[in-house]
This record gives sequence, C-alpha cells and structure tokens, in this order.
Amino acid sequence: MTDETPAPDLSTTAGKIADLRVRYHEAVTAAGEAAIEKQHAKGKMTARERIDALLDHGSFVELDEFVRHRTHAFGMEAKRPYGDAVVTGTGTIHGRQVAVYSQDFTIFGGSLGEVAGEKIIKVMELAIKTGVPIIGVLDSGGARIQEGVVALGKYGEIFRRNTAASGVIPQISIICGPAAGGAVYSPALTDFVLMVDKTSQMFVTGPDVIKTVTGEDVGMEELGGALTHNRVSGVAHYLAADENDVFDYARTLLSYLPDNNLADLPEYASEAELEITDDDRRLNTMVPDSPNQPYDVLDIIDHVVDAGSFLEVQPLFAPNIVIGFARVDGRSVGVIANQPKAMAGTLNIDAGEKAARFVRFCDAFSIPILTLVDVPGYLPGTDQEWTGVIRRGAKLLYAYAEATVPLVTVITRKAYGGAYIVMGSKQLGADINLAWPTAEIAVMGGQGAVNILYRNEIKAAEAAGEDVAAVRTRLANEYTYNVASPFLAAERGEIDGIIEPAATRVAIIKALRALKGKRASLPPKKHGNIPL
Ligand code: HXC
Repeated sequence: MTDETPAPDLSTTAGKIADLRVRYHEAVTAAGEAAIEKQHAKGKMTARERIDALLDHGSFVELDEFVRHRTHAFGMEAKRPYGDAVVTGTGTIHGRQVAVYSQDFTIFGGSLGEVAGEKIIKVMELAIKTGVPIIGVLDSGGARIQEGVVALGKYGEIFRRNTAASGVIPQISIICGPAAGGAVYSPALTDFVLMVDKTSQMFVTGPDVIKTVTGEDVGMEELGGALTHNRVSGVAHYLAADENDVFDYARTLLSYLPDNNLADLPEYASEAELEITDDDRRLNTMVPDSPNQPYDVLDIIDHVVDAGSFLEVQPLFAPNIVIGFARVDGRSVGVIANQPKAMAGTLNIDAGEKAARFVRFCDAFSIPILTLVDVPGYLPGTDQEWTGVIRRGAKLLYAYAEATVPLVTVITRKAYGGAYIVMGSKQLGADINLAWPTAEIAVMGGQGAVNILYRNEIKAAEAAGEDVAAVRTRLANEYTYNVASPFLAAERGEIDGIIEPAATRVAIIKALRALKGKRASLPPKKHGNIPL
C-alpha cells in the first residue's frame, strides 16, 4: 500500500474488503523493513519466517492478527501495532495439526504484555481442547516492563496452562533469541527445549545482576547460551547449528509423537524382516571380549531398530546414558541405553534425571520403551552423595516403576547392583526382559566381589608370595561365571530369556507386537509424589 492509494470507501462491500486487505497488510508488515533487517543481521529469522520454516507450506492459519495492546503508560498509546509482539495460529507438520506461537522480537523486543499473553493463552487452550501439540518459538525480552504486574500475571497464566497441558499434548519450546528472567519457566515446563547455537540464551538472572550480587564475571553466551544448556545444565534437548536446523529437528521430533495422550502413535509403513539378516549377525561381534573395553551403544541401537530411525534427544548432556526415539516395525519407541563409551556407562545424578524425565514422557504418551543395559553401577563419590544421588537417583526408579507402557529390556553386558534394578528390570515392572550370553547380572562386578568375599584367600596368597593379581583375576572370573551368569537369572525367571545378539532385532519386534494390547493401571490417586 502506498500513500497515494485512495482510502477505501467503507460504505461499499468492495471498500470493506479493501479495508480488510489494508489492515491485514499493516498487521503482517508491522515491524517495518529496518527492524526486519536488524533481525536478519543477527542471523535470526522473523517470527513469520520461522512459522513458514516450521509448518507445512501454506498451512498456517493466523489468529488474533488484529489484536492491539491497551497500555497508556510511557506513551505506549502512540504505538499500537496490529498483532502485538507474537504471531499465533494453527497449521500442519507432515500433514498433522499443530498449534504454534512465535514471539516477534521486532515488536517491543518480543516482550510479553497483556495482549501478547492473551494471544499465547488462547492458542494454548485451543491446542489443549483439540488435542494437538503446541510449539512455542521464543525470542523475547521477557515481561513487558511498561505493563508491570499485568505482564507478570500473564506469565503465571501461561505456566498454569503449560502444567495443565503436561502429559496431555506434546509441548515443544524452540528458543531463537533471549529468554530471560521468569520467562524461562514456560519452556522449562514443556517437554522439549531446542536451542540455536550462538543466537539463543536462557537465564533467570543476567550477567549484570550476577556481577552485582556475586561478583562473578560471566558473558551472556557462557551463562545461558545453547551450548551451556545442552552440555552443562541439561535444560535443553538439542543444539541446533542454525534456525533451519532447529525447525528441521522439531519437525522430525514430532513425527515420533502422538497428537495427544489419547491418540494412537503415528505409524509408518515398514517391511520388518523377521528372519535374521547379515546385518543382525554383526551384533554378535559388538560386545568386546574384555569387560573393561568400551563400545558405542549407538551402533547397537542402530542395529535393533528400523534402519536409520533413531533420533537422539539431549545427546550432549549426561552422555553416559543415551535417550531418543526410534521406530520398530514402523511404530515409535523410546530408547534408553547406558553408553559404555562415556564414564563406562555408570549412572550418576544427571543420567538418572535425564532418563527419568524421558521415561515419564514416553509413559504419558503411550510410547513403548526399549531399554538396553550395560551398567557397572552408580558413580561413587562424595560429590554424588552430597548432591543427592539418593533422592535424585530415585527418580528413575520411580519413573520405571509407575510406567504402564510396554517395557522391553535387553541386558547386553553388565547389570550390577541397584543399577540393574533401575534400568528397566522385570521386578520394577518391565514386560519382556532378555539378556545376551555376554550379560553379567549380580550385586557387583567380579573385582569388587573378590575384595569382599575372598579377602582371606588374597591375604593368604600374599603371605605365600603368590602372584596376587593372577589370583584375583582367577577368583573374579570364577565369580562372574558362577554368580553373575545370565543363566542363573534365567533359571529363576528373573529374566525371560537369553538370546543371541543377532536375534535381538527380531525379538524386539515380536515382543512389541505381543505387548501392543497391554493394559495396566495404577491405583487411583490424586498424583504420586516423585522424589524431586
Ligand atoms: C519492553 C523491551 C523489553 C521488555 C526489550 N525491549 N525488552 N520492551 N519490555 N522486557 C525493547 C527494547 O526497549 C528495544 O526497544 C527493543 O525491545 C529491542 O531491544 P534491544 O535492547 O535493542 O535489543 P538487544 O540489544 O538485542 O537486547 C535484547 C535484550 C535486552 C537482551 C533482551 O533488550 C534486555 O536486556 N531486555 C530486558 C530484559 C529483561 O530484564 N526483561 C525482564 C526479565 S524478567 P526499541 O524501541 O528501542 O527498539 C521477566 C519476568 C518474567 O521477564 C516473570 C515471569 C514469572
């Protein structure tokens, strides 16, 4: 529209339609070219470009594009752009309905005032009501300073909707800019937080406040950048190289998730080969002869799920446990696996919390869980004990024990002590538990057991001037063979069977087919009290 365009004649239908077009044009271009260029110069897309990158082409249906703020403070009445600082609506991803909001940093720094809050709440409620995933794209200076308590109140209402939606519809937060102050808690309440390297930051208190209060000098990126939250804090689940990457990941992630907690899982055509293939036989050589030699559990995962279907979640945080989604027989499963390549696959607080939250997500959305076990135990040390490995480690026990989805567990090598129990053991409620002949299931590993059980024999060997290391190894091997053998567990029905590694893929397919109709429920209660 140019200044020369005549004002529409509002007494006619054609004039009214022309007026709508003028206003709509104004709404979608409210930011102005300069602000958009500023946004692009930072390597960031605009709110609308992000929606286009996320949704199927042409599927977006906008809501509330004519909303305007009602604030008079600080001369705000002089600037009342249509749509305010967030774009909201519905659309599709791979043809499936989703709801979306995308904060517009080019308008009032994407800050959340009364009407921006109302828009977000409206689209969240629509998502909950219609049972579709909600995706928030965040790029905001936080609560709109000019609007004070009203802005804070809207955040409170958003948090309440996030909590109500939890376990009902999948919620994904994509951080594409700043998320500061209490505003970080909406993403924190959602299921997945995706961040973009270098251009997204999350923190409760910023570098300036930290400097004043604690004297620490820390930059914005180090404090709350994408790498920090993916690797150190565990707040984020994916580190995207750029915005296109983050939207691709979000689209892929959604392909594994149902629309809501009552909906069927997405199913993809699959021609599962039920005979053991040459590729399956490679599993027979994956576990090294030496129990101390690591291997990459990702290789095993790749061989037991549908080819190329594994999508890792939170790969940079607590790498000693791997979580992610895959497909078996064309249907989604959640995969949890100890990673012998990182810290020998021991469990620590971070690993326990990472896996516990994932188990609960899968359980809430009826996604069966496949657990691959190779765990030498919990990580020892005062650091772990004093930061609450008892309380925080109990979360994973709790999560598995209350899960009612199909649970299939395969022990590939070590399954020692409490870590054996926690990693989807039969006794916690798993349905089908299998072990490879390389499994070692016991209270502790051979070396540890020898130190306690054969103390006197070792002392005697020392006194007799024997090769103590050789005696230890012999006794440890005897213990492993006689006590930790998976055949002992199988004999007692503590596991359901021992299979050749090559047979694992087919066994998992058959187990999940058998468990498809599983029905299980917990006693009625308001809610449990998971250790937090
Ligand atoms: C109103 C805001 C704003 C805010 C930014 N803007 N944040 N307006 N309320 N919270 C405006 C700026 O005035 C500016 O307007 C435009 O957005 C762009 O901001 P810049 O500062 O120019 O951008 P940049 O240099 O990229 O810095 C971005 C920023 C910074 C780091 C986010 O703006 C900033 O620190 N903002 C304040 C952050 C903050 O403390 N928010 C409150 C957090 S507490 P013009 O007109 O100049 O373009 C909170 C509580 C939530 O959110 C509680 C929930 C329970």
